[in-house]
Amino acid sequence: MSSVVLVTGGAGFIGSHVVDRLAAAGHRVRILDTRPSPWHDSSEVETVIGDVRSLDDVVNALEGCDAVCHLAAAADVGEVHAEPAWATELNAMGTLNVLEAARRLEIDRVIYASTVWVYSDVDEPTVDEDALLPNPAHVYTAGKLSGELYCHSYAELYGLRPTVLRFGIPYGPRARPAAVIPSFVERALRGEALTIAGTGAQERSFIYVEDLAEGVARALSPQAAGRTYNLAGRETTTIRQLAEVVSEEVAPTEIVHTEGRAGDLKGAVICSDRAERELGWQASTPLREGVRRYAAWLHEHSAVAVAAAAPVVPAPVAESGMRRAATRLATVAGDPLYVGAAALIAVASAAVSAILGTADDARAANCLVVALALLVPLWSLTAVSWPFDRRRLQAAVVAFGGAASVVVLGLVSSDTDSTLHPSNVLLLLAVSAAATGVLRAVPRRLADDSA
Ligand SMILES: NC(=O)c1ccc[n+]([C@@H]2O[C@H](COP(=O)([O-])OP(=O)(O)OC[C@H]3O[C@@H](n4cnc5c(N)ncnc54)[C@H](O)[C@@H]3O)[C@@H](O)[C@H]2O)c1
Repeated sequence: MSSVVLVTGGAGFIGSHVVDRLAAAGHRVRILDTRPSPWHDSSEVETVIGDVRSLDDVVNALEGCDAVCHLAAAADVGEVHAEPAWATELNAMGTLNVLEAARRLEIDRVIYASTVWVYSDVDEPTVDEDALLPNPAHVYTAGKLSGELYCHSYAELYGLRPTVLRFGIPYGPRARPAAVIPSFVERALRGEALTIAGTGAQERSFIYVEDLAEGVARALSPQAAGRTYNLAGRETTTIRQLAEVVSEEVAPTEIVHTEGRAGDLKGAVICSDRAERELGWQASTPLREGVRRYAAWLHEHSAVAVAAAAPVVPAPVAESGMRRAATRLATVAGDPLYVGAAALIAVASAAVSAILGTADDARAANCLVVALALLVPLWSLTAVSWPFDRRRLQAAVVAFGGAASVVVLGLVSSDTDSTLHPSNVLLLLAVSAAATGVLRAVPRRLADDSA
């Protein structure tokens, strides 16, 4: 079924292939990126220039979409190592913003591009999606894993069912020149030696980028909701073997070794059987074939490839004070907790001024009873959590309850003859307790109805 799909990071290496694959499958694709796509004409693919670190930008771009594939990130581990604060804001907060925008706009399909780097500290020789993940050593892994954790939290708290895709190490046309296969191929084409960090025994499952894009497109299917999939190549290759393949397929070159990198991906065999079973997906391009295709592409496009891959470290998000305040206000106005806290403060203040403003003790006591009778159900309405899709209604009811309570207190305190008969006091408290009980039962009933 065709739909409108937002691809964040759609101007990038993998994102641009995802855009192409989705468009070929008949979807209407929109890109959200900090730069125009070097690979697409904006007259053909709608492009929103914006920053995933700004919730406003993400909400604006996502409006009218049926799904989002979130690929925008600091994906170069070298850049992440050099700029950990920027990278974390982008990789962790950027993902949180995408989830939050999807929550607000009630968009059901969210695909999150994670990475097999999450397995880099696992000691098992073979890993699948159920592997227990130790604390990550690298900031890149920590940031990407944070994104996964936010996906999990949004599933638990708000009923979103994001799909997490752990990408293997991609290569192919449009790859960043700094990545291992592009740099090997480029060096081989230039007749330079291939340098390997460490022994070269570290294993990788490389995946041809078009196979990866196909996996992302398949993950839009409803049965992928709430699932985590590895999308890795079927062949596992050591870096040393890769260098040999490049040397054989592209041009014969010398292979030299340098010191290993800190927090480098150790490498294990990544099992992608779940994606094969549930999505009918598997990486179909053999490494040799992919390296050949990439070398041919690079040969033809080397100037474009270098220009397109210029590192993009976006400037800090500059939002105007007004815009920030309006966004904050919009967030707060839809959250029953904030609305409720404001309503409770308003009712309590009205009660205090009513009590202090009365001349005799009996009327002050009456005002206190009325205030308590109004505050208890209002507090209960604020404190319980309604189902995600009814929270705006909850916020509206809380606001209405707060305003009505203030009015009632005003009427009670302005009525000079008002005294509450003891039986009326009891009746008022009983009604208040019953209302509180009902308001606590409402969310359970709503949740049952929507289940
Ligand atoms: N390339 C890899 O080796 C690899 C491996 C596994 C997972 N991944 C993940 O796949 C995704 C795509 O990676 P890639 O290799 O295509 O990276 P890339 O750097 O080629 O593309 C990232 C895109 O995001 C855009 N971007 C950066 N900051 C942005 C911001 N603040 N707001 C909006 N857009 C922004 C960039 O302009 C770029 O077009 C990332 O989430 C990455 O973590 C990549």
